[in-house]
Amino acid sequence: MKVASVVGARPNFIKLAPVSRALRERFQEVIVHTGQHYDYEMDRIFFEEIGIPEPDHHLGVGSGSHGRQTGEMLARIEDVLIKEEPDAVVVFGDTNTTLAGALAAAKLHITLVHVEAGLRSYDRRMPEEINRVLVDHCSDLLSCPTETAVDNLRREGIVDGVYLTGDVMVDAMNLCMDISKRSTILERLELRPKEYILATLHRAENTDDSERLREIIGAFEDIGSNLVFPCHPRTERRLRDLGLWDSLKERIKVIKPVGYLDMLQLEMNALRILTDSGGVQKEAYIFRVPCVTLRERTEWVETVNDGWNVLAGASRESIVRHARGFVPPRSQTHVFGDGEAGRRIADLIESFMSSGRGCSGGRFAAS
Ligand code: UD1
Ligand code: UDP
Repeated sequence: MKVASVVGARPNFIKLAPVSRALRERFQEVIVHTGQHYDYEMDRIFFEEIGIPEPDHHLGVGSGSHGRQTGEMLARIEDVLIKEEPDAVVVFGDTNTTLAGALAAAKLHITLVHVEAGLRSYDRRMPEEINRVLVDHCSDLLSCPTETAVDNLRREGIVDGVYLTGDVMVDAMNLCMDISKRSTILERLELRPKEYILATLHRAENTDDSERLREIIGAFEDIGSNLVFPCHPRTERRLRDLGLWDSLKERIKVIKPVGYLDMLQLEMNALRILTDSGGVQKEAYIFRVPCVTLRERTEWVETVNDGWNVLAGASRESIVRHARGFVPPRSQTHVFGDGEAGRRIADLIESFMSSGRGCSGGRFAAS
């Protein structure tokens, strides 16, 4: 049986790593890379460092407006699927790559598997929220990281094909923790464990709204020299356009985005983490590092309900206060899984296909 995994952006690659490993134990896997991310630090470094197999197809789509980027990907993924004739397509998370892969597969009547299904922020202005809702509604197998995700789907009437598998990012962390110990990032940045704060920032709601961006960057500057900020290229471009880049670089440690192995070390040794990333909120929780989220809402509600994550929004005062003083409770009650999500996903695909429920019949007809 042949399975096609469609990826294109940083968080897709990290989720692919453990799933690909599990798929390859029993299926033929073909990797399709849309090219949504392309800078070395956003793309190649993950394939080189964490052993993700080389993509079989690189579609080179690159950046663009949402419609143009998603449309280009859709057309090119469709061509590949028609040529490769996979039995199932796997998509990851909530990026434009995820949506394009899902639409291409669904229209060709190929069994569609959504990894990280059922997440909701209930904010339809987030591009990722639109992507999640649409992908979930056209998927055949939905791999949910949490009970909350299963409940969210149930409320939208999606019950068939829904499975609680745990979160593949736990698998990814397990896969990479040992090799990440080889990272020398702390020495290179002259950081001591638990004496610095780590920040990431890239959500459109923050970067594209100059008032919010100024507030958040103001908070970063107030926090000062013990702040380390691996900066997403989208954010760098906006900060340069607004003339905020040079003064920020003088006040805090702004660095290029780092590879996953360096990132795991930066996260686990941080005193606190400030972020608007979905994945980083979860990793902070798993590493038991208090997290200050630079948004008003989160899909990862368990982390907030448990007291380990606080939603500071884009308020300069609130970010600084929490960055300096947020103390979570001692215990954690929720977990994101046992690190076996990848294997469960492969099991589910196998039993779904062998039960004859997989899509079939005339699916590769081009018209
Ligand atoms: C995308 C995802 C977001 C995810 C993030 C992970 C969508 C709608 N958004 O956001 O959910 O959290 O990836 O990092 O899919 N750029 C570069 N080099 C690159 C990639 C991007 O310079 O390698 C710059 C370009 O100016 C580009 C901008 O970043 O226009 C935005 O890139 P894009 O892939 O559209 O969205 P992200 O903000 O990265
Ligand atoms: N990440 C990384 N290097 C960085 C920033 C993030 O390796 O400089 C990893 C992070 O550890 C997590 C994933 O990228 O596993 C999260 O991706 P991102 O924040 O880009 O997207 P999101 O999760 O918000 O969709």
